[in-house]
Amino acid sequence: MNLSALNTTALAMVAPGKGILAADESTGTIRKRFDAIHVESTEQSRRDYREMLFRSEGMASISGVILYDETIRQEAADGTPLVELIKRAGSIPGIKVDEGTQPLPACPGESVTVGLDRLADRLQAYYALGARFAKWRAVIEIDKDTLPSMTAVHVNAHALGRYAALCQAAGLVPIVEPEVLMDGDHTVDRCFDVSRRVLNEVFGELRLQRVALEGMILKPNMVVSGQKCPEQADVAEVAEKTIRLLKECVPTAVPGIAFLSGGQTEAQATAHLDAMNRRDPLPWKLTFSYGRALQAAPQRAWSGKAENASAGQRAFTHRARMNAKASLGQWTPALEHEAA
Ligand code: 13P
Repeated sequence: MNLSALNTTALAMVAPGKGILAADESTGTIRKRFDAIHVESTEQSRRDYREMLFRSEGMASISGVILYDETIRQEAADGTPLVELIKRAGSIPGIKVDEGTQPLPACPGESVTVGLDRLADRLQAYYALGARFAKWRAVIEIDKDTLPSMTAVHVNAHALGRYAALCQAAGLVPIVEPEVLMDGDHTVDRCFDVSRRVLNEVFGELRLQRVALEGMILKPNMVVSGQKCPEQADVAEVAEKTIRLLKECVPTAVPGIAFLSGGQTEAQATAHLDAMNRRDPLPWKLTFSYGRALQAAPQRAWSGKAENASAGQRAFTHRARMNAKASLGQWTPALEHEAA
């Protein structure tokens, strides 16, 4: 394992004033997003949409792009590989390597992320295609009192450890993503407790499986109230509790933490990241690795029409810049209006 190369890539992924674009929606997920804007999801419409993003000025704020298997092999309309467009924009190509979730028969309502079979071979192939980092998302169901089970937390943490060790052996930086969902009516404090259990289990497995912390990026949820909880934590509380969680659980050897947006609105995702970065200096870089919170606006602006491509690019560039500001603790609500 070349730890120094992995560390260099990890640091570039959380370079000051930049963050990661999660454009790795599976074919099923992107179909849902396109349904919402009444666009038919075809190989070409998916290519056109992603090419539009990768050619936009907003890429100056993007350190790395997480791709899906189809996309890492696709070419732009003029024949340039999409991976090449990303590199030309000064960004690092990455790849989602998990194969989604399967139910855990012994744990009703819970799941385990799969995809470890032949993963070493697939990682080698992705490296050859230009990927320098990977992503694996574990999904942790949460409720007020019973979920998650110890079983679900353990099997998902174990799989994250296996994945991360294989990535590093293949020269790819693993993004380790244990996502505690924000669906449901649990409180912000319940989210804190569950997230702490999950992160402790994950770092236990990473240690046990000899993953080099200097060569990885953590992609956690923020500590937020369940979407249906009558009492919603405000921006200051989310920032305070998320930082407290990270200080308790994340070793300082980890170069950076890039949050998922997980169903937060675009405005919330930006405000929360900004509030965290305005606090005391931290041992790790805190930035974004957003999917929906970066793409909802460009998807609406584009709506599948070629003549809307520059409007789509403007919308993406704006969100990317706002989040880049937030990653420095320099975002203000006024900036939203100026640019708009
Ligand atoms: P969201 O920001 O939409 O949660 O997506 C990020 C991601 O990569 C989830 O795996």
